[in-house]
Amino acid sequence: MKHLLSIEQLSVREIHGLLDSAAHLKLQRGRDGKQLAGQTWALIFTKSSTRTRVSFEVGIRELGGFPMFLSKNDIQLGRGELVKDTARVLGRMVHGAIIRTFAQQDVVEFAQYSGIPTINALTDDEHPCQILADLLTVREKLGGWEGRKIAFIGDGFSNMARSWMWAAKHLGFELAIAAPVACQPPADYLTKLGASNVTVTGDPLTATRDAHVINTDVWLSMGQEDQQDKEREFAGFEVNSALLAHAAPDHIVLHCLPAYRGKEISEDILELHAATIFQQAENRLHAQKAILVALGR
Ligand code: CP
Ligand code: NVA
Repeated sequence: MKHLLSIEQLSVREIHGLLDSAAHLKLQRGRDGKQLAGQTWALIFTKSSTRTRVSFEVGIRELGGFPMFLSKNDIQLGRGELVKDTARVLGRMVHGAIIRTFAQQDVVEFAQYSGIPTINALTDDEHPCQILADLLTVREKLGGWEGRKIAFIGDGFSNMARSWMWAAKHLGFELAIAAPVACQPPADYLTKLGASNVTVTGDPLTATRDAHVINTDVWLSMGQEDQQDKEREFAGFEVNSALLAHAAPDHIVLHCLPAYRGKEISEDILELHAATIFQQAENRLHAQKAILVALGR
């Protein structure tokens, strides 16, 4: 594995390897090897971040490396310098790059031109670091996904929904996506996915019924904040106690955060499931340390 650009491109073996390594690193925290000793990793972010930025900065330090945070306004990328030129400069100076941006193609191009290990820290297409932390959380809480039904309630074509779809394709669990019709994955995407274990409905109750994991995410992803028309499509899609009454009795609730209470999730449900949701947030650190160890050699 040279880069982590998408969950789509990972093999089942790589996913399991990263999750096993993350679990091990979690147990070993404080007694880390210094796999990134002498290495500088650049974090190039053109979107806001709390969890991703902090977990990568802490993780790189714990592995003996040095994180260098570069918001787009700090570097010439913000003034229009090309990704391929930025990549060729940084590739000669730093040992790895972690990129959060809009277009997936920018991360792909950076990896191609820089020649250094490159990690997708969220694009409009995918959030591979988050899905690995989510899978780790499901493994910890439920022992795995064998025979489990996982529901995703929200924007069915967001980076998180797409990441869940590819995880389901690779790992074979039942994934039910509930999204307003205008926010469902298009037919050609589902054809490319080719996963009969992934279903899409416009009815949150159908997706939630007997589900063991109920997942949600913001209705408007970063960059879409002014799309009020889109937000109106989500009436009736809140993950709340009335909806969860139809889930399996031992269900868990996941949210990648940040959360908007009273929109995609109710206040009481977020607080009821806070132990799981913040364990999920913590797992970002462990999952990303596993990625760094895999790429940083
Ligand atoms: N879940 C997640 O990626 O959070 P941040 O946007 O705070 O990094
Ligand atoms: N879908 C959300 C995820 C945030 C972590 C977004 O892109 O804003």
